[in-house]
Amino acid sequence: MGPFHKDYIGKREKTLTDFKGNLGNYKILKTEDNTETVWSEFFDEACHNLSGAYEETIYNYIQGCSIPDLLARKSKIAVLDVGFGVGLGLKALIDQVQASKNHTISLSYYSIELDETLMLWSLRTTLPGLVLKRIEKEQGLEKLVFYGGAWQESNKKIEVQIYIGDGRLTLPLASRLSLIKPLDAIFQDAFSPRKNPTLWSVEWFLFLKSISSQWVQLSTYSSSVRIRKSLLAADWIIEDALGFAHKKSMTKAKITGETSADLLLRMTRSPSLEIRDK
Ligand SMILES: C[S@@+](CC[C@H](N)C(=O)[O-])C[C@H]1O[C@@H](n2cnc3c(N)ncnc32)[C@H](O)[C@@H]1O
Repeated sequence: MGPFHKDYIGKREKTLTDFKGNLGNYKILKTEDNTETVWSEFFDEACHNLSGAYEETIYNYIQGCSIPDLLARKSKIAVLDVGFGVGLGLKALIDQVQASKNHTISLSYYSIELDETLMLWSLRTTLPGLVLKRIEKEQGLEKLVFYGGAWQESNKKIEVQIYIGDGRLTLPLASRLSLIKPLDAIFQDAFSPRKNPTLWSVEWFLFLKSISSQWVQLSTYSSSVRIRKSLLAADWIIEDALGFAHKKSMTKAKITGETSADLLLRMTRSPSLEIRDK
């Protein structure tokens, strides 16, 4: 167990100002549903669609992964949020669990984040009141740093673990340390495949499959042929869905079932290739 720093208790700042993280500057952007996101200088991208950061999270991930249905059917659920960003994935999950008619819920929430300073800013800003401890676990020469804790309201509980560093390394280590329960839902919300290719590769999707339950539902805002081909090459079943706001389409994926013949044909007609680790 690492030391407990009371600074990590989310306490909302009165006025939000642009700030510097470990990876460069972040600019705060107000989106059309009045919620904030950040633009990252390092990736040169915003974390959300400017049509509405919270609404996009609800559409792409809460509805995309059928979270209301999962909460109605199951009392134990495990969710991976690929990229903590400004913490809206966790905020939306807390809101759903609070609103759920199911009285007993135990949800395990896992996330990865490269930029620790951004993550701390997001806890203070998006999740005021949530108390997380900085924990370090070692296995041989490897060290896993994460923020762990829980949100609880009567019999509803969300256990939170946010792994700091490159998710390509931290998530496999967390899995080897037996910290991760089989995933029921994956919010695949990395920056775009062009800017952040390692979180869209065949090898990444193979790994995600290896830590998932057979009923897992993955959802992502991206409809790029390359990421769809990565998912197919990693033996995921893919589905085309209507995108959020002005986006024509997005992608959902599962492990069981079949990809439609029409979608497979569209994929084979495109010369774009899947993304592979170098
Ligand atoms: C689009 S944002 C995620 C938004 C987030 N789901 C939310 O609701 O606020 C992507 C995040 O992934 C993080 N990221 C990018 N590459 C990463 C990596 N290899 N490992 C861990 N985090 C990474 C970025 O720093 C960024 O915060």
